[in-house]
Amino acid sequence: MSSQLNISRTDAKKLLRQGGVLVNSIIAKKADAAINPQTDKVSVNGNVIEYKKHIYIMLNKPKGIVSATTDGRDKTVIDILPDKLKRSGLFPAGRLDKDTTGFTLITDDGEFAHNILSPSHHVKKTYIVEVGRKVTEDEMKRFIDGMMIGDELFKPAQLRFMSENADTGNFQYEIKIIEGRYHQIKRMFASVSNPVLELTRTAIGGLELDTGLNPGEAREITKKELDKITEKKNIN
Ligand code: URA
Repeated sequence: MSSQLNISRTDAKKLLRQGGVLVNSIIAKKADAAINPQTDKVSVNGNVIEYKKHIYIMLNKPKGIVSATTDGRDKTVIDILPDKLKRSGLFPAGRLDKDTTGFTLITDDGEFAHNILSPSHHVKKTYIVEVGRKVTEDEMKRFIDGMMIGDELFKPAQLRFMSENADTGNFQYEIKIIEGRYHQIKRMFASVSNPVLELTRTAIGGLELDTGLNPGEAREITKKELDKITEKKNIN
């Protein structure tokens, strides 16, 4: 009850004492009563608890929020989640910079997070990047072949021209990467002397950020959507 309702154990015990907790329609009083979350029906004050071992959340991260669980100074992606999605053990699977916006996946499933983050699993992360000038063909080749920056080899990325912003004169590109190195995209563009002006993540694997989510809004990812993240056709 504590993990599924995001309440303290003390509060869970209080609910039990109050008699509002039913297990298979029988009032439950004992906090240490063993139940099978797969087969037993538990309800609290008339609301059935749908047991979930893990939770997967899509957040449209706004600027100014840090990708961490706690931070002494700034608000984190966990702080801004609505209470109904909060539970213990949540963390962001991958870090977006403070000034990067878009799709942040938050979960309490460490194994899943490892699987989507490890470059060996080839799950592509898609970003829209805005820069001040066009990328030349030679530069494009460096992105596509994989580039050396200092003594680090950045794995091949996919880079595609999207549009020119008539108002700002800036250029938008879509970039797909399978690694998550520190400031990776900013460093790639900086190495061709074309600094990143805006950066937003739009997809993880085959799952796109829900365009119905305003910056700062979050919702649970469905089981079907979760499978899209690791769909074979989105990995290479
Ligand atoms: N690359 C960056 O430089 N920053 C991000 O936030 C994500 C990818």
